[in-house]
Amino acid sequence: MSRAGVVDIDQHRRDLPGSPFLAAARGERPSRHPVWFMRQAGRSLPEYREVRKGTGMLEACLTPELACEITLQPVRRYGVDAAILFSDIVVPLKAAGVGVDIVAGTGPVVDEPVRSAADVAALPVLDAEGVAPVADAVRLLVRELGETPLIGFAGAPFTLASYLVEGGPSRNHERTKALMHAEPDTWHALCSALADTTLTFLRAQVEAGVDAVQLFDSWAGALSERDYRELVMPHSARVLGGLADAGVPRIHFGVGTGELLGAMGEAGADVVGVDWRLPLDVAARRVPPGTALQGNLDPALLFAGPDVVAGEVRRILAEGAAAPGHVFNLGHGVLPETDPDALARVVDLVHATELPALPAP
Ligand code: CP3
Repeated sequence: MSRAGVVDIDQHRRDLPGSPFLAAARGERPSRHPVWFMRQAGRSLPEYREVRKGTGMLEACLTPELACEITLQPVRRYGVDAAILFSDIVVPLKAAGVGVDIVAGTGPVVDEPVRSAADVAALPVLDAEGVAPVADAVRLLVRELGETPLIGFAGAPFTLASYLVEGGPSRNHERTKALMHAEPDTWHALCSALADTTLTFLRAQVEAGVDAVQLFDSWAGALSERDYRELVMPHSARVLGGLADAGVPRIHFGVGTGELLGAMGEAGADVVGVDWRLPLDVAARRVPPGTALQGNLDPALLFAGPDVVAGEVRRILAEGAAAPGHVFNLGHGVLPETDPDALARVVDLVHATELPALPAP
């Protein structure tokens, strides 16, 4: 225990001084280019399909031994520089008591969409006990992973709100945008409740031992910068700010967010994730000084054959050198039909590529 009886979230922290991922995330020079993939655990892996047989997605996320095993699968297969906890952005909602399930091929589906002030007032808020199975999975993983860091994650308030308001995945986010603009008080109350749940979820992961966190605002790219700054950023900033004392790098990512990268960095990120639409050297000029970058191979190009992929990897590593730190990743998650061997080749090539020369003293 430390100050005022607050549990010291640093007490279980592992010291991983040799981790290329943590070095790059902190803007320090790593021993080699680090690489991991969003959705590296999942349907592209035969060993994942095997262990998931007969178990629902959310049930798998809330079964510590299974979540641990699935998290380890891509680390064993690829030798990536970080593991990402096998979970989902709707897990804390489910754990809080929201009626939500993940439908294969569709995504999260909500029983009763949240659209009015009364709906928001009735929304259950998570307490840490509710995600105890996730914390248990983290503790198992920290023991199994050795020197490989573990990334925890959560969905950001806007992306979670979109699922709750729309009732499921949405192309245009029309009900969400209508609520944001027509009833801003209700909108802010919703995002404030979601920020509390997200922070509780992330702090539970940090207390259990994750070495970094990623806040997924996957659908924020649907917003103008003006709307993002006014209606979304304060809530994401409260989540990221609430982890400032945790001593772990904070990654902030969304798809199609080229116009939002500056604001997403200002929200309190150590690393900003970039999709494939914007070269990393351009992204480096858009984020606050000192911010590291993560990305940004187009996941669809993994279907284009080894020569195309190798050329893209080399280009991205060269462009990433413009940032104070660069963590190689895809621009969004691994697509389910991806050949795992294509990802294995990316890892090998990233690791074999020399770091840029140090500037002359
Ligand atoms: O990256 C990893 O390896 C960790 C696993 C992970 C999952 N979900 C597992 C999962 C992560 C980081 C997530 C986060 C998540 N979930 C996001 C943010 C990341 C992103 O993709 O932008 C979002 C938007 C969700 C919501 C969600 N859950 C979607 C859109 C889907 C896909 C639905 C489908 O079937 O196409 C899910 C389900 C889901 N989450 C799967 C996995 C492996 C597939 C379900 C299955 O295997 O049966």
